[in-house]
Amino acid sequence: MGHRVERPSIDHYDEIIRVWSEAGLEYKPHGRDSRELIAREMALPQCAFFGLFEEGRMIGAGIANWDGRRGWINRVAIIPGRRGNRLAVKIVEACEAFLREKGALVICGLIHKDNAASISCFEREGYSCMDEVGYFSKRTSWED
Ligand SMILES: CC(C)(COP(=O)(O)OP(=O)(O)OC[C@H]1O[C@@H](n2cnc3c(N)ncnc32)[C@H](O)[C@@H]1OP(=O)(O)O)[C@@H](O)C(=O)NCCC(=O)NCCS
Repeated sequence: MGHRVERPSIDHYDEIIRVWSEAGLEYKPHGRDSRELIAREMALPQCAFFGLFEEGRMIGAGIANWDGRRGWINRVAIIPGRRGNRLAVKIVEACEAFLREKGALVICGLIHKDNAASISCFEREGYSCMDEVGYFSKRTSWED
């Protein structure tokens, strides 16, 4: 089956949300995942959204963000019916290529400790976890 990784435009917003939603990934439709804020993020040169298309249909998605110090891979998702086919790695590799091109020496991702599928996928790609580090965040609201 033919797969292509592409940079979607904001016209693909509904498809990106569908993929995240079908994948059971938490997203923030009233915060940073609103159409307006996704459009703003997509326009940033240090940010790249990727969609994985199968026969023209988006079945996976992910985001690469370069913060000037580290590269981040966020929200990688494959819809349930297409899992276990080593498809997420195609998105991870596209994110890595974008981030390397920006100059990233370190590429990171935040993965819940219970997420065995994601951990397995990232470990296979050479990522290792620092168990002693915690995720601290300061928010305007939990909606964001
Ligand atoms: C994490 C995710 C993107 C991996 O996508 P994928 O293309 O299925 O990845 P892989 O094919 O490399 O499989 C990775 C692991 O998924 C698990 N897996 C395999 N087949 C599966 C299936 N049919 N259904 C569910 N999980 C499966 C296995 O643990 C596998 O690891 P293993 O091959 O070492 O046993 C996907 O499971 C997903 O979208 N999960 C929900 C969203 C999410 O948690 N994203 C990550 C946020 S950090």
